[in-house]
Amino acid sequence: MESNSSSEAELKKVTRELASYKIELHQIRAYLQCILQNASDLIFSTDAGGSLLSFSKGGEKVLGYSWIEVVGRPITDLAEDPETFEPVMVSCMKDGSGVALDVPFLHKEGTTVYCNASLMDLINREGQRVGTVGICQDITRWKKLQEDLVQVDRLAEIGRIAAGVGHEINNPVAVIKEAAAWAGEVVSDAKGLSADDRQELEEVMETISAQTERCRNITHKLLGFARESLPTKIELDIHELLKETIAFLNPQLKHTTIKIGLAFTEEPLLVNSDPRLLEQVFVNLIANAIHALLEKGGDDRRIEIGTLRKSSEVEIRVEDNADGIPKEDQGKIFELFYTTKPPGKGTGLGLPISKNVVSNLGGELTFESKVGVGTTFTVRIPVS
Ligand SMILES: Nc1ncnc2c1ncn2[C@@H]1O[C@H](COP(=O)(O)OP(=O)(O)OP(=O)(O)O)[C@@H](O)[C@H]1O
Ligand SMILES: [Mg+2]
Repeated sequence: MESNSSSEAELKKVTRELASYKIELHQIRAYLQCILQNASDLIFSTDAGGSLLSFSKGGEKVLGYSWIEVVGRPITDLAEDPETFEPVMVSCMKDGSGVALDVPFLHKEGTTVYCNASLMDLINREGQRVGTVGICQDITRWKKLQEDLVQVDRLAEIGRIAAGVGHEINNPVAVIKEAAAWAGEVVSDAKGLSADDRQELEEVMETISAQTERCRNITHKLLGFARESLPTKIELDIHELLKETIAFLNPQLKHTTIKIGLAFTEEPLLVNSDPRLLEQVFVNLIANAIHALLEKGGDDRRIEIGTLRKSSEVEIRVEDNADGIPKEDQGKIFELFYTTKPPGKGTGLGLPISKNVVSNLGGELTFESKVGVGTTFTVRIPVS
């Protein structure tokens, strides 16, 4: 009788414990579900062979795939280069956990997404490894920002060096130019020169003059680039400034089929900024578009200049339907002296200077380009 009641009590105790474990389990599950649903990071789990078992909501945002699209696939499939991701997984399996910084994954749309990945073994009750859990934090934006900062730093450093060199070269170039002009006069006055010799010498003098002018042009741009003068900001209407810039460039369009279309917002686009610096940027962007369109040829050659106002910034787009910039060259266009124009036509300073100017004005210069479709440069600057 007594043993019966004691086992009944025992049973009740176990039932109570079970119920409380159930509640606890339920809470843990809800807690994990909440993390998986709401974390902005990609959280995944794989089986022992590395095939995906689960994929968080954040993962869908980071890589663009829904869970159903990736379940069962090897996790290495999602890396940009499976061969570089494989060793990370292997080393995690060896040590039980691992961290890999800056792992390039591939977004569903083909862009690269950089992640810091923490991986750990998933262990069962018997202590066996049954899979891997990974948390990947998307650091693409941060990485881009860091690269931009490094680029700005590098440009500033190069700018300082270039300014010094430019300054030193300016004087000898001025002397050469003067000497060439003087030699030119001597040639014109010289008697006893054969017509052929005279022509040859005159051509040489012209070349010297044109080339020294080119040097002067480069050193002036470099000095402008390095000058760290503070922008002089005033209230101005971007639309007026753009119209003046187009009028200034119009002579270049006279005998071409290039059309410039305006897609301005209806009201004036007022900002507090430096008109002289902005004009320098717009001249370069539009001149680049004109040049690209001249290269393209044909009748369908358009530049569209559009504006937009967003809450605290304005956006100016210069869009052309020229040949576009090949993907492999897109990383180079903001480098100092990078140009695809023939000698004497371009110095390769326009875009790095423009980028510098726009960031000095607190804004950002970006671009998108597709071969065979065209290029769009976008300037974003704060309203004030
Ligand atoms: N709209 C565009 N379409 C195609 N390629 C472009 C366009 N804008 C720039 N580029 C490419 O980027 C390169 C660099 O441009 P950037 O303005 O810095 O120098 P540049 O125009 O060659 O010389 P500079 O502006 O100093 O006279 C160009 O030579 C060209 O190859
Ligand atoms: Mg240019």
